[in-house]
Amino acid sequence: MNKAPKIRIAKDAEHLAQSACQWLLERYQARRAGSKFSIALSGGSTPKRLYQLLGQLAPGTIDWSEVLLLWGDERNVAADHSDSNFRMVREAMLDSISIPQENILAVPNPGGPAAEAASAYESLLSTLPKSDSGQPIIDCNLLGIGDDVHTASLFPHTKALTETERVVVENWVEKMDCWRITLTAPAINASRNVAFLIAGDKKSDALNALWNADRDTKLYPSQLIQPTSGQLWFLVDEAAVQSIELPNDAECVRF
Ligand code: 6PG
Repeated sequence: MNKAPKIRIAKDAEHLAQSACQWLLERYQARRAGSKFSIALSGGSTPKRLYQLLGQLAPGTIDWSEVLLLWGDERNVAADHSDSNFRMVREAMLDSISIPQENILAVPNPGGPAAEAASAYESLLSTLPKSDSGQPIIDCNLLGIGDDVHTASLFPHTKALTETERVVVENWVEKMDCWRITLTAPAINASRNVAFLIAGDKKSDALNALWNADRDTKLYPSQLIQPTSGQLWFLVDEAAVQSIELPNDAECVRF
C-alpha cells in the first residue's frame, strides 16, 4: 500500500528552492548510518536554483564525502554540451563544493551509443544498496515534470515506460528526435524519498493530470511514480497548484 503523498507549497519559485534545500537537509540529517546518502538529481531548469543554494551552503553543513550524487536522467550528449544535465549541475553546484570525484556517479561516456551509456550507468549504480527486487535504494530522488506529464526521461508512448526489470535504459524520444538515458519507474519507485519539484503556472495542467486524470501511464508517465515503500513528496509553489484540486489523501503544508 503506497503512503499518502506529502505536499509542501511555497509562495514562489525562490521560496520553493529554499524549501527544497531545507527538505534535502532534513533528509540528510536523518540519513541512515553506515552508508553514503544518495541523491538522484533531476535535470531541466527548475532545480537549478536549488543546486545553486546547495553549492552556497556553509562549509560543513553537508559532508559531501558522505554523499553520492547521481542523475535521474541524462540527455545523450557529451558532458560539456549545453543540453547536458551533468553540465548544468556542475556549473550550478559541483564547481562550488568539495566532493570526492568517486562520489559523482554521472552517466559514463554520454553522447556515444545510447545503449552502451545506459548499460555502463546501470553497472555504475549497481554499487548502491539494493532492494529485494534488485533495484538501487536511492535516499532522495528528485524529479521534475514536463508539460506532457513526463518525468525523468520517461516520455509519453515511449519504450522505457514498460520496463519492469532494468534500472537504467536508453529511451528514444521520437518527438525530440533524440536518445535519453533514464532511470526506469521501478528504479525510481525503490527510492526512500521521491520528490517532484514543480514551479510555475505553466505546470498546473501537467500536475492536474498527474493528480486528477484517470490513470493512463502511457499518456501521463508521471503516474508511474508510486514509491514501493518510500515517501512521495511534492515540493511546489503556489502558481503550480493555484487552480487545481490537491489529492484528498495528501498531507499539505504551506510555507
Ligand atoms: C530533463 C529532466 C526532465 C525535467 C522536466 C521539467 O532532463 O529535462 O530530467 O524530466 O525534469 O522536463 O523540466 P523543467 O524543469 O526545465 O521544466
